[in-house]
Amino acid sequence: QNCNIGFVGLGVMGKNLALNLADHGYRVAGFDLDAAKIQDLLDTEAKERPAGVDAPRMVGCSSMSELLNNLVKPRVIVVLVPAGAPVDAVCHNLIEAGLEADDIVVDCGNSQWTDTIRREQEYQGKFKFFGTAVSGGEVGARFGPSLMPGGDADSWKYLKPMWESVAAKVDANGKPIETRTPGQPVTEGEPCTAYLGPNGAGHYVKMVHNGIEYADMQLICEAYHLIRSLLGYEPAEIGKLFEKWNQGVLNSYLVEITADILQQQDPKTGAPLVDMILDSAGQKGTGRWTSISATQMGVPAGIISESVYARALSTLTAEREKASQVLVAQVQGSDLSNEDIENAIENALYCAKICAYAQGFQIMRAAQEEYNWELNFSDIARIWRGGCIIRASFLQKIADAFTENHDLENLLLSDYFANAMDNRQDGLRKAVVMAAQAGVPVPAFYSALAYFDGYRSEILPANLLQAQRDYFGAHTYERVDAEPGEKFHTQWQVPGRPEIQTK
Ligand code: 6PG
Repeated sequence: QNCNIGFVGLGVMGKNLALNLADHGYRVAGFDLDAAKIQDLLDTEAKERPAGVDAPRMVGCSSMSELLNNLVKPRVIVVLVPAGAPVDAVCHNLIEAGLEADDIVVDCGNSQWTDTIRREQEYQGKFKFFGTAVSGGEVGARFGPSLMPGGDADSWKYLKPMWESVAAKVDANGKPIETRTPGQPVTEGEPCTAYLGPNGAGHYVKMVHNGIEYADMQLICEAYHLIRSLLGYEPAEIGKLFEKWNQGVLNSYLVEITADILQQQDPKTGAPLVDMILDSAGQKGTGRWTSISATQMGVPAGIISESVYARALSTLTAEREKASQVLVAQVQGSDLSNEDIENAIENALYCAKICAYAQGFQIMRAAQEEYNWELNFSDIARIWRGGCIIRASFLQKIADAFTENHDLENLLLSDYFANAMDNRQDGLRKAVVMAAQAGVPVPAFYSALAYFDGYRSEILPANLLQAQRDYFGAHTYERVDAEPGEKFHTQWQVPGRPEIQTK
């Protein structure tokens, strides 16, 4: 009866997070609808005890009331079940099993932030509903994830010590301190977790993390595709190139795993393994949610949206096959040397990545207004330096930029990133031109360059667009020589074209 934390749902993520907590000395009680899963866990991984620990690290429970009876009060129960209706079903079952008003239920799934906002209100008085998004996949959950908590500030004091101990850690330079040894957790370093705000703040930030993840992955895939198409390198050679890039400004987990993937051979055929994988991308929805949320708030996040569309286009396998027989590109080669092309694409990837992160942070800036949160962007960048899928060296620079100026309007305006764009944008421009001439689809690269050029333009053709709207729909426009907010309408099709000022 003295467990510190309970788990409902012992699938891969639940089991691994529970084991991680146990490694850090917390006593964990676990329940799963599938009793075999609990027994299996108790018989295998949960059996090992860290040195000096006598009591079993985990208690298996056969019902939710048994789970509640095993926990110290206020009880903390982590729910790790599929997002959506199953989360509410578990909450209702826990209430029936005797959950109390001070108890804390933590949803660690990839829930939609609007559900988290709704649930916090709906369960008020019955128990405290808290959200914590987890990034880092199964290895992250087991040995140190990035944790993005949001919810009731009072509950945070109970969760903070546990979350800080199990989260990934980074050293004083912001580099992840990694372990893969059960029972020997990392106990030093700065934890990759911070309280992000009330209700859905944590799940929202994780959703944007995933939107950025989509963009980051798509940009890497485009860089690979462009190099392969222009230079004809084999995947393994491109893998080596990614390995080299991983030593520089592009240093990141996603570049590292890409280098590894590209150098693997299919054991069955001996062909590059990547070539044996069907080019039809899956998606569970978080990237799409990010794009929808950005669009609803009027935030330009084209790179993230293009990355969602690119996955959608990839699934049109049969249609693409048909179209490839009918639609032919008029291609033109490039006269750059191989080395120049490699450099251009490396710089293109870095610039486009900066733009994608700028968009992600813009989305969160808008969301904090929309939902009345006070997000700390420096903290967000800090907790993404380790544990999560988008961990990368340059997140330290993003954290620095927001520490220097919390109200930074756009990452592109910070000295560091403005300079980086200055020094390297030539690569992005070249990559886009070469792709267009060679007929290689690089939608995220195109979008990144268009975003950069659009954002830095004092004058855009939106004046003409406003005129068009006014012409066909009397939608009115503002004049450059009048007070902001004053509306004008021109009777475009009336002789003499009188201009009418409207209120
Ligand atoms: C993470 C990942 C994780 C998962 C994605 C995959 O941060 O650990 O983002 O949450 O891998 O949700 O999403 P898709 O299936 O949509 O690619």
